[in-house]
Amino acid sequence: MKGIILAGGSATRLRPCTKVTSKQLLPVYNRPMIYYPLNTLIQAGIKDILIIVAPERAGDFLNLLGSGSEFGVRFTYEIQDKPRGLSDAFIVGENFIGSDDVTMILGDNIFEDNLAEEIKSFKIGGKIFAKKVSDPQRFGVVQFDKDNKAIKIEEKPEKWISDYAITGLYVYDNRVIEAAKKVKPSKRGEIEITDLHNYYLGLGELEVAMVKGEWLDAGTFDSLLEAQILAKEKLQDKLII
Ligand code: G1P
Repeated sequence: MKGIILAGGSATRLRPCTKVTSKQLLPVYNRPMIYYPLNTLIQAGIKDILIIVAPERAGDFLNLLGSGSEFGVRFTYEIQDKPRGLSDAFIVGENFIGSDDVTMILGDNIFEDNLAEEIKSFKIGGKIFAKKVSDPQRFGVVQFDKDNKAIKIEEKPEKWISDYAITGLYVYDNRVIEAAKKVKPSKRGEIEITDLHNYYLGLGELEVAMVKGEWLDAGTFDSLLEAQILAKEKLQDKLII
C-alpha cells in the first residue's frame, strides 16, 4: 500500500492567510495542518508517501518534512502545476504508485478516529469513508438504500440526497490510475474524485465505511477554528507524530 497526501491547491477561501503559504502548512493548534493527515497514513503502517504540492510552495514542504526519516517513512514529492481536481493525484502519482494499491488523503482533512484497521483490511476495489454532517451540500455525498448499501454518489448536490458526506480519505486498488485518466472535467472544471467512487460503485466494488469520531475539512476559517479546538482537546494523546 502506497500513500498520497494531496497538498496542492490555492486555498482562496483562506486568503489572506494563504497568500504566501499553503493551507496545509497553517498551524492547527501545535502542529502544521499536514501533520494530521500524515499521522493517519503513518498510523496505518504506510511507509512510502507521496506529497503532491503546488510549484510555488514545494520548497516549504521539503524544508518542513524532509526525507521522512524523522517519521520513519520515505517521502516523494511531485509538483501539481495546476489544481486540476482530486482525481489528478492518481495521474500525477502514476509512477510513484507503480503496481500497488493506494490510500489518498487530503492535506486538510483531520480525523479523530484511528483508521489503521480500516485501511489495512482493504482488499480490492475502493473504500471510502462517510460521516453524517449538517451541511452536506459542501461535500461529495453518498446515499444509502434501506439495507445501508450505497446507491448514489454526487459531488456537492444542489438537491438534498443524504446527510452523509464523503470524507477526504480514499483507498483504491491499482485500477484507479486508468480510471482517473478517463474522468472528464465537471462544471467547476475539475476532474472530480466522485467519478472514481462512481466507477467502483458501478463495478459493485465500493465499500463505504463510517467515521465514528469527529472529522473536519479545515478549508474555511470556521472549520479551521473547529480543527484547532479538536486538536487541542481530543487529539494530543492520539497523535504518533
Ligand atoms: C473535496 C471532494 C469532496 C469531499 C471533500 C472532503 O471537496 O471533492 O467529494 O467531500 O473534498 O473534504 P473540495 O474540498 O475540493 O471542495
